[in-house]
Amino acid sequence: MNYPKLPSKAILAPMEGINDSAFRILCGQFGCGMVFSEMVSAHALARHNQAAIKLLDLNSHAADERPFGVQLFGQDPEQIVKAALFVEEKYSPDVIDFNLGCPASQIVKQGAGCALLLRKSRIKEIVEACVAKLNTPFSVKMRSGVDSKHIVALEVARICEAAGACAITVHPRTMKQAYSGKADWQVIKQIKEAVGIPVIGNGDIFAPEDAERMMRQTGCDYVMIGRAAMKSPIIFQQVNDYLRKHKYKHTGDEARLKMIKAYLFLAKKHNVSFFRTKIHCQSFTAGMHGSAQLRNRISLCKDEAELRRVLGL
Ligand SMILES: Cc1cc2nc3c(=O)[nH]c(=O)nc-3n(C[C@H](O)[C@H](O)[C@H](O)COP(=O)(O)O)c2cc1C
Repeated sequence: MNYPKLPSKAILAPMEGINDSAFRILCGQFGCGMVFSEMVSAHALARHNQAAIKLLDLNSHAADERPFGVQLFGQDPEQIVKAALFVEEKYSPDVIDFNLGCPASQIVKQGAGCALLLRKSRIKEIVEACVAKLNTPFSVKMRSGVDSKHIVALEVARICEAAGACAITVHPRTMKQAYSGKADWQVIKQIKEAVGIPVIGNGDIFAPEDAERMMRQTGCDYVMIGRAAMKSPIIFQQVNDYLRKHKYKHTGDEARLKMIKAYLFLAKKHNVSFFRTKIHCQSFTAGMHGSAQLRNRISLCKDEAELRRVLGL
């Protein structure tokens, strides 16, 4: 099955602890091409674990959360297929993505995420099994390798394409690098030249100019944005404007506060916890006048009324 044709070139990266329903809708309102769930354990979903289901929290029928992708992690093909079929039936996502990139030790210890990059036959087995059973496009998202001596992304991309994956997202850092150094966009270019399915470039897009440069330098079909979207979902509008007109509006304090107000409205509507709401407000205020002090004051807020007072909303 083919990757969907998206209304914008910029996609929201899956982010654990960040991509709640309100945040995804907000990114969509700013013109994001597709939103992702945070990664969810396939093994937990296969058991219909309620905490895992709650994490997905998808408004599957709401147009303002479409198109959307669900990301799964795990290492057992049977459990992953079970979870993917459950997700397909319950949420009808536009894409189901599989995580080959999480470097967190609790995931790697389970043999999932980045750890799978050392088990190419297992990757093939997982992708083939999911593609055979699903009626939903199945993609993979990976890092470039485990460490600088084992850069396997190109080989893994070829394996995934042959196994039927509909697209490949690559964040070209190794597991060992975590977030240090720079993403090596050359790896994205190599993969784009080697496969025929869409390639989504990811890593170190902090401004609209970076998105344009990544597309130009690598030829990737789409770009995926994580940390910059965490600070400001407005980046999607800016990327869209920059790719179309080569200019965009910079974000001032007033626009940020308007965005925060919109997030608070959505967070209430979609029952986002106050803890998460505060985390978002703290990152949304980065770059604002007096932001360090503001972040501290937000962290001390006990309820929404206090939060609104601190933000002057
Ligand atoms: C807080 C946080 C949570 C993340 N959670 C996930 C995840 O659940 N699944 C995943 O594939 N990547 C996850 N990532 C990685 C991002 O999707 C992305 O690949 C990475 O941040 C590089 O993109 P960026 O430079 O635009 O941030 C996470 C990153 C951050 C910062």
